Amino acid sequence: MNKKYYITTPIYYPSANPHIGHTYCTVNTDALARYKRMTGHDVFFLTGTDEHGQKIESYAAKAGKTPQEYADMITGGFKKLWELMDISNDGFIRTTDKHHMECVQRVFKQLYDQGDIYKSEYEGHYCTQCEAFWTETQLKEAGGVCPDCGRKTELAKEEAYFLRVSKYAPKLIEYIRENPDFIQPVSRANEMLNNFLLPGCEDLCVTRSTFKWGVPVPFDERHVIYVWVDALVNYLSAIGYGTENDELYRKFWPADVHIVGKEIIRFHTIIWPIMLMALGLPLPKKIYGHGWLLFDGDKMSKSKGNVVDPFVLVERYGVDAIRYFLLSEFPFGNDGNFDNATLITRINSDLANDLGNLLSRTVAMVGKYFGGVLPEPNAPVPEEDAPVTETASALWERMEKAMDEIHPHIALSEIWKLIGVCNKYIDVTAPWILAKDEAKKPRLGTVLYNLAEALRVIAVAVEPFMPNTTPKMFMQLGVEDAALKTFDSIKTFGGIKPGTVLTKGEAIFPRIDAKAEMEFLDNMIEEQRKKAAAMKAAEEAKNAPESPAEAKAAPAEAPAAPDEAAPGSKPLITYEDFAKLDLRAAKVIDCVEVKKSKHLYNITLELGEERRTVLSGIKDWVKPEDIIGKTVVVVYNLAPRKMCGIESRGMILAASTPGDADVVPLTTLKDIPSGSLIR
Ligand code: MSP
Repeated sequence: MNKKYYITTPIYYPSANPHIGHTYCTVNTDALARYKRMTGHDVFFLTGTDEHGQKIESYAAKAGKTPQEYADMITGGFKKLWELMDISNDGFIRTTDKHHMECVQRVFKQLYDQGDIYKSEYEGHYCTQCEAFWTETQLKEAGGVCPDCGRKTELAKEEAYFLRVSKYAPKLIEYIRENPDFIQPVSRANEMLNNFLLPGCEDLCVTRSTFKWGVPVPFDERHVIYVWVDALVNYLSAIGYGTENDELYRKFWPADVHIVGKEIIRFHTIIWPIMLMALGLPLPKKIYGHGWLLFDGDKMSKSKGNVVDPFVLVERYGVDAIRYFLLSEFPFGNDGNFDNATLITRINSDLANDLGNLLSRTVAMVGKYFGGVLPEPNAPVPEEDAPVTETASALWERMEKAMDEIHPHIALSEIWKLIGVCNKYIDVTAPWILAKDEAKKPRLGTVLYNLAEALRVIAVAVEPFMPNTTPKMFMQLGVEDAALKTFDSIKTFGGIKPGTVLTKGEAIFPRIDAKAEMEFLDNMIEEQRKKAAAMKAAEEAKNAPESPAEAKAAPAEAPAAPDEAAPGSKPLITYEDFAKLDLRAAKVIDCVEVKKSKHLYNITLELGEERRTVLSGIKDWVKPEDIIGKTVVVVYNLAPRKMCGIESRGMILAASTPGDADVVPLTTLKDIPSGSLIR
């Protein structure tokens, strides 16, 4: 019976379109999955999207969509990319799938019923971006900002449910120590032990009540389940855990390896094992934390405009070239630097020259000297042939070691060693000179046979990494027999049959014009950078406090625009600038205090048929009864913005005296229907 192999990628946030970093992780995982299939394993390869949480909720609001519509849109992009990249995943889980949400609720309830989740109150430093609470110590060590993303955190207090991490931590420490393979690379295991587990773990807050876009706690719908608990359960829900249809679960659990980026290894090696221990389930065999792909030494980010778009690269250079670059250039456990020049060099030197030319020269020589029919290898010269035959025969074992250690880049470098040896073999044996002497024809035939067989070995070996290249190579080499296409078949040198007809085909990797491509890629990034800078400036201007009332409402969130320092000295604007504002008269229907804020009112406005919530920081100057029923002026097309967990849609204008001694909302000279335009 085949051995089973369950491998997963992280499930990605569909907050923005997938970029080369996501592609890097998924392509590496795909190569591992394909390799395991080739070596006789029954593989289940899972990927997916992590669609809940405050971040998705606010991205959706900005895009004017519901969170589900937004997640559908971006998840569609991920699926399209995986198709394009020839990703061979067996499952695609979305955390908004009904069966997943039910699984999360069942897991939560079981842990609550058995006392491993309990209700209490949480106060801590919360990072909205990372959806993570941090302890005092962690925050201090990171210099007062979120240790993961470096952003400012907020103090948050809420009634919440907690997972008894402290109860299971000692058992986990023991487990990690006794299973040195559990967390890979090993350095990451030490990091987890020394930085998180050994200093002592507090129980983990596993619910939120400040937003709604999540899986509700099944017995207390005011709370949604913490996104990380929701997300981690995907590895079980995708294979039917806890349902009647749990065949896959019974076959595949525990996972053989979760491949994750180094920044989320903490969640996978602490929270996840503890949840599984509490559920009484076996732990995944391995968690592998890969490094980050940087661009020109810098973290990729949309706001910097240095995000590399895989769709563009694939369209220009082909799927296998990009897969090869991602798989070979960056040692998987370390951070790697993506730069355009290296991409171009690797395509031209490794793919077009080393591999592409080796194939086309070999096929051409068999064509020229033997009419395309592969000769018998009956004139060996051991000292010349040995490097080729021995390197080729040893390749499978070297690949096996590298792939078992989750080092796809090493497996590829072993294949390229063989390619190098073959190219050198051509130089040493000089077939064009052998061809001049009829007596040397048997030797020439042997050299070409060895080259063709080595190329067959290479074609088999590259399949997990470059699945489109293998059939192209087989076609030119005339390899049709399925038995010669298996991984087992490369364990013995000499599989390809003399008499096989080789056919010249198109170059498998055409050379690219390095100068023109450099220009193209550099321009693309430059354009992106410019766009990102313009968007950032526009965003800053939009978020800058426009009135004293708003400034008071959210001082931390509203950076001042650079030219706003002296009131009254704003630069002139054109009529077109002014016309961008959609100002309207609105009637105040209700005005209540926002509990979590000292300055804000939650104001319900009527604008014709429409009702809107606007948060306004006028509490210090205006009583609710003074404003209810009045007509005010509202900026109607101001982008929605969340404060204290409430979305404010618009801004009420107010006049202020110097130093904000008094702040008075604007109204109209006489009554006018709500919703009227102001010009
Ligand atoms: N949703 C969580 C994961 C939950 S898993 C139960 C998440 N999502 S994410 O969209 O932020 O994706 C994170 C993963 O994407 C990283 O862990 C990494 O595998 C991959 N990458 C995203 N950007 C990357 C780079 N620049 N470089 C390499 N991989 C990176 O965290």
